[in-house]
Amino acid sequence: MSAPRGEFSSRFGFLMAASGSAVGLGNIWGFPTNAASNGGAAFLFTYLILAFALAYPALMAELIIGRHAKANAVTALRGLSTSPASRALGTTVGFAGMITVSFILSFYAIVSGWMMAYMLAAGADIVGANALSSWLQTPGLTRDSLFTVVFMMLTIAVVVAGVKHGIEKWASRLMPSLVVILVALIAYVMTLDGAMDGLRLYLVPDFSRVADTGLLLSAMGQAFFSLSLGVGTMLIYGSYISKRENLPALGGMVTLLDIAIAVTAGLLILPAMMVALNNGIQIYDDQGGLVAGPGLIIAVLPALFEQMGGAGMLVALAFFVLMTIASLTSSISMLEVPLSYLVETRSVSRRKAGVVLGAGIAVISLIIVFNFNVLFDLVVSLTTEYSQPLLGFFFAIFAGWIWNRNGILTEIKQGCEGAEYGLFWRIWPFYIRFICPLAILAVYVQMLFA
Ligand code: PHE
Repeated sequence: MSAPRGEFSSRFGFLMAASGSAVGLGNIWGFPTNAASNGGAAFLFTYLILAFALAYPALMAELIIGRHAKANAVTALRGLSTSPASRALGTTVGFAGMITVSFILSFYAIVSGWMMAYMLAAGADIVGANALSSWLQTPGLTRDSLFTVVFMMLTIAVVVAGVKHGIEKWASRLMPSLVVILVALIAYVMTLDGAMDGLRLYLVPDFSRVADTGLLLSAMGQAFFSLSLGVGTMLIYGSYISKRENLPALGGMVTLLDIAIAVTAGLLILPAMMVALNNGIQIYDDQGGLVAGPGLIIAVLPALFEQMGGAGMLVALAFFVLMTIASLTSSISMLEVPLSYLVETRSVSRRKAGVVLGAGIAVISLIIVFNFNVLFDLVVSLTTEYSQPLLGFFFAIFAGWIWNRNGILTEIKQGCEGAEYGLFWRIWPFYIRFICPLAILAVYVQMLFA
């Protein structure tokens, strides 16, 4: 049999690891621009409701299943099954989650590689190595392949060190640094001309947009991606939580932290974009929407930093350190999903599983790098828009329909005495049975007719 399972050593460690997984590129470039393009605070409002009404129950389903089974997603879902059909479904969903998360990691590593290249470029600027800096900032197959591989190696190094000594240790160091850097950057950007226009764009609601289906779709996709749902990440982190901890409270804190950091990132990104506009940098794309995603991070913001002169180099360094941290604490949670499966069911060592999986995923990343225009958007859209919510649907089916209520309650009561009288138990079972699956289906139906 394999070595004893890892466990987070403290509540703080779990919170940092799980919120580290949740807080990633999705929060920093996804949320703010999504909000600005979809009615500002109206989006924020819809997002908050969806995050608590849909994403939080779905997160809880994964955490509860994970801690109950103390195993990887495939074993966990099979264990809940009561018939050959549900066992087969469990295996399928577990495997589909592993495959999806591996593909998410394959594109995530490319973008994270860019973040590292820009971080080093800022460092090179500071020491006056201009040629190096401009190479680092110029897209190219060599640069992109190199940094994708370096980022994957970092991810592998943290994950193979173990749950406590790798994932928990690094998340506990990196997440607080992320918050400090984020706040410092906001404070600086607020002093620049144009920042207030950004705040207005972000925070003044256009409520006529709340009923907009496009807005609902983006808010829901954003919430699922941002909380790392549907692919077994939260399930596996849940499986490392001690039976003494109060799960509904922990899940609530992770949701709050994720939302808080996304909302806070908006206070940086949108003011920075309006400062850029004020300085004559183009921030709208051809369709008149705000430049979002990679274009925002590697075109708009670097142009802004460059205009800031000496201070800009430090700001750029801080910003890309922030992005690299956000990426790494997410990528390690992605690799842990297939790794835990190999370690637990094939008796492979963490080291071997990490290296083999990491190398395999890096190969997929390189294939994407070399066929970027054809593959990148396709992989992003298949994994995050289609696969993730669909798998979230099946996790809800497992928690709401296949597993029995008593089993769930017994699990929640560990670490949460009297759970059966609490608000959570009054509401959640209904949500996970009906509201979550129906809402996800509704999104699919809308997508088909959109
Ligand atoms: N939540 C991460 C982000 O916001 C992405 C992620 C998705 C992480 C799926 C793990 C699993 O960037």
